[in-house]
Amino acid sequence: MQKLLIQGGKPLHGEILISGAKNAALPILCAALLTDESLQIGNIPALRDIETMLALLNQMGVSVTSDHNVPGITLSAKQLNNPTAPYEMVKTMRASILVLGPLLARVGQARISLPGGCAIGLRPVDQHIKGLQAMGAEISINHGYINATVKKLQGTRIVFDIVTVTGTENLMMAAVLAEGTTILENAAREPEIIDLANCLAIMGAKIQGAGTDVITIEGQSSLHGAKYSVMPDRIETGTFLVACTATGGEIRLNNTNPHLLGAVIDKLAEAGAQINVSQNHIHLTMNSRLQSVSLRTAPYPAFPTDMQAQFMALNCIGNGTAIITETIFENRLMHVQELKRMNADIEVEGNTAIIRGIPHLDGAHVMATDLRASASLIIAGLVAHGRTTIDRIYHLDRGYENIEQKLSMLGANIQRIN
Ligand code: EPU
Repeated sequence: MQKLLIQGGKPLHGEILISGAKNAALPILCAALLTDESLQIGNIPALRDIETMLALLNQMGVSVTSDHNVPGITLSAKQLNNPTAPYEMVKTMRASILVLGPLLARVGQARISLPGGCAIGLRPVDQHIKGLQAMGAEISINHGYINATVKKLQGTRIVFDIVTVTGTENLMMAAVLAEGTTILENAAREPEIIDLANCLAIMGAKIQGAGTDVITIEGQSSLHGAKYSVMPDRIETGTFLVACTATGGEIRLNNTNPHLLGAVIDKLAEAGAQINVSQNHIHLTMNSRLQSVSLRTAPYPAFPTDMQAQFMALNCIGNGTAIITETIFENRLMHVQELKRMNADIEVEGNTAIIRGIPHLDGAHVMATDLRASASLIIAGLVAHGRTTIDRIYHLDRGYENIEQKLSMLGANIQRIN
């Protein structure tokens, strides 16, 4: 198994390019299921989750091609002879559930392995199922599979009980080919939903209100092929910004969208970073004493749960005491016990962590428990005194493209070993 070795204590300096957003690319790949014409997608990050999604679509009958003369990849779902998502694939990536809505809309049937719990929480899919049932789908769950059929999905009004990102995306994709109008209320407002809606619109879908909590979709009889480029990854951007705020230094992140990071940038400024933004880059300088920052995760536009672990690492060496409350997932504080191995002073009560800043962390042997926890441990390793070894970094490869190369370009002492 591969590990990361980090020798801490070097400030970050330099500039890097931000990759395409994993959580926008995954639903956009599934949008290819909605048409028998080709969808050409650019700015796809090279990640394990993307490979898994492409393999999943491919075994359904979707052809995936890339050509040196054409940017990105081209997906063609002319034939869909196997509308199934098997357990082996779903178990490694919960986003596989995103094929359910498009398959029902396009071919009227789907057999999807039920995603189980995962490290960060139970993560049920009841809202996806409830919405599709309201649109007329017959859904049964047996032997661990969701079996769904429908003659033709019908537009209707759906009110989500809770705000769900992939739930909103799944129903939006189902509704674009439904008969009549679908109104999604209490919809998620994440920028990745706007990106998916923009791609669907170029494919001929009629969607209004993406990015607000009421989305109205007028079903069309078919969608057509298109070219689309995925938005930049706001969580990758935020992760590098936190890393530099923790280590000190000066970095510039190119090919990103600062306007999607309002809550994160505000917290970094509170921590002492100086941040300048333009249309597509962010420049961060950190040369003051790091201040602790309290936060509470909540759906967009509030502070993202996907940045909570990174701020936990930052606060370990902040001046003062911070309180972090995780409200989205019930078990997303697993990085705390690993940070404590590095001497962090953190107390957990329920979904709240109290972090008392200490002058420095000590390098240690730690284990990554999920994707964003891995990023948190890297940040801790970058600021720690001495050497940190991180195990189980396969989590990291699911969601960060070339992270150790990018950090090395910024001057970090980090390497991957077998
Ligand atoms: N939930 C339900 N029922 C449902 C759906 C969700 O109870 O039918 C609950 C979940 O258990 C959770 C909350 O609702 O407690 C919110 O979950 P949501 O459905 O919004 O999460 P998701 O769509 O499964 C996406 C991202 C996650 C990100 C969350 C929250 C993708 C592929 N994944 O997950 O990304 O944390 O939204 O913003 O878009 C990551 O990239 O590291 C990651 C975990």
